[in-house]
Amino acid sequence: MQTSAIPGYTYGSVPRSPITLDDLAKLQEAVLFTEDDVAALRQSYDVLADQVEDILDVWYGFVASHPHLVHYFSNARTGEPDAAYLAAVRKRFGRWILDTAAANYDQAWLDYQDEIGRRHHRSAKNTTDHVDSVPNISFRYLPAFIYPITATLKPFLAKKGHSAEEVERMHQAWLKSVILQVALWSRPYVKEGDY
Ligand code: HEM
Repeated sequence: MQTSAIPGYTYGSVPRSPITLDDLAKLQEAVLFTEDDVAALRQSYDVLADQVEDILDVWYGFVASHPHLVHYFSNARTGEPDAAYLAAVRKRFGRWILDTAAANYDQAWLDYQDEIGRRHHRSAKNTTDHVDSVPNISFRYLPAFIYPITATLKPFLAKKGHSAEEVERMHQAWLKSVILQVALWSRPYVKEGDY
């Protein structure tokens, strides 16, 4: 997938994260994330690469079927879902699946996590797609989403003939990675000095 073909996907050219790579390593230890998880995520890359659109259909279907969730993609004036906004974010979401599976925990990755956090938070939501949507995603839904996102992924991980044990290993790695990312994305929501 060409990164330049995805509007607003600015991985590699965003401000530096205030979190250091050392902080990241400690957070990885806190979530029991190891090199085995890196290997399992990379194994999931080939499993998921040709299923990205099907996964997005499930995740977007979940959001679309709950008015209080699709609300965050709505036009602030009309209250109607903004189809162009949904479509633009969907492309970056697809790329995020591949980036998560690629599991390259370097400075560029860390920097982009802070950017994704800001894009959910009022400090940068709506700016990437130049939309007039609601200003902020309520924080409580970020950790809550870890469950539907990872639970619905499991059947896709199981679709390419891997053993139950391998599927479980990939699934656990995904769970840890998404928890780790949501922990990083929480930074702009937390009061200065408390993060
Ligand atoms: C585990 C939790 C979540 C994950 C993994 C996730 C994933 C993502 C990703 C990958 C993007 C695109 C980032 C980019 O611009 O490159 C994104 C943007 C977005 N997400 Fe989430 N998200 C989560 C929680 C939520 C929740 C709870 C909502 C509310 C329904 C939500 C609504 C949005 C919106 C509106 C955007 C676009 C923000 C903007 O740039 O204006 N997300 N999300």
